[in-house]
Amino acid sequence: MELYNKILEASSFIKSKLPLLPKKAVILGTGLGSLVDELTNSTSISYSAIPHFVTNTVDSHYGKLHLGDIDGAPVIMLQGRFHYYEGYSMEEVTFPIRVLAQLGIEELIITNASGSLDPEIKTGDIVALNDHISLFGQNPLRGITDSRLGDRFPDMTHTYDKPILDSVIKIAKEANINLREGVYIYVEGPSLETPAEHRLLRQAGADIVGMSTVPEVIVAKQCALKVCVLSCVTNECLSEEGPKETSLEEVIQAANSAAPKLQLLISKLILE
Ligand code: HPA
Repeated sequence: MELYNKILEASSFIKSKLPLLPKKAVILGTGLGSLVDELTNSTSISYSAIPHFVTNTVDSHYGKLHLGDIDGAPVIMLQGRFHYYEGYSMEEVTFPIRVLAQLGIEELIITNASGSLDPEIKTGDIVALNDHISLFGQNPLRGITDSRLGDRFPDMTHTYDKPILDSVIKIAKEANINLREGVYIYVEGPSLETPAEHRLLRQAGADIVGMSTVPEVIVAKQCALKVCVLSCVTNECLSEEGPKETSLEEVIQAANSAAPKLQLLISKLILE
């Protein structure tokens, strides 16, 4: 079946299950799934029920779409995402983004966990992306020629929406949250990077590194969505004491500890 028809099937199914369709959606990354607890009047749909959605293979992610509201403002939250390292195709990884756009979402807030490459960005900090680098992986638009899906060659100059970025910086300042702006570099994973790779990524101009988000952002740009990405720093890749090992447990624990800060930023962004 053509990708366009798959998108229509999935979005029609979701529409048939939800009482209303909001303009904003949030994708919750590693260790951040508990942000759905903020929602009131919520309805959820399991990914396994949605046509053409795949299901997650990583325990720290859940597979549900939630609709609910935060202080009266409606929002869709995707609790759990698909990663290329799980073995899915780029089409599968980014399918939910195309479905969200078809549902009428205009603004997408993406969260993730990342490792810091900047000695001044510490574990527990939140970084709002102002750009990304994606030179080592497959492009999710490869082979897509259907103009109903958007531009074949989307310009990536203004990918991270400046008004939303300015809003989140202001919200963080008012709430005394130490929010940084930065550049995220995408790696495929699932193995973490070597110390030599960390030095290279830093020299390439990146502030943080992670295994998700960028394929979603590229597709979101093709779908003309406004994008904001908030990254929770879960480990320091270039610490002064020299190379240090990182485990999934450490990443999840650090993301869980930073979740309340992200919760506050996201709740306020939804209300804007
Ligand atoms: N590298 C890649 N992905 C990550 C990291 C990291 O250090 N931390 C969290 N996600």
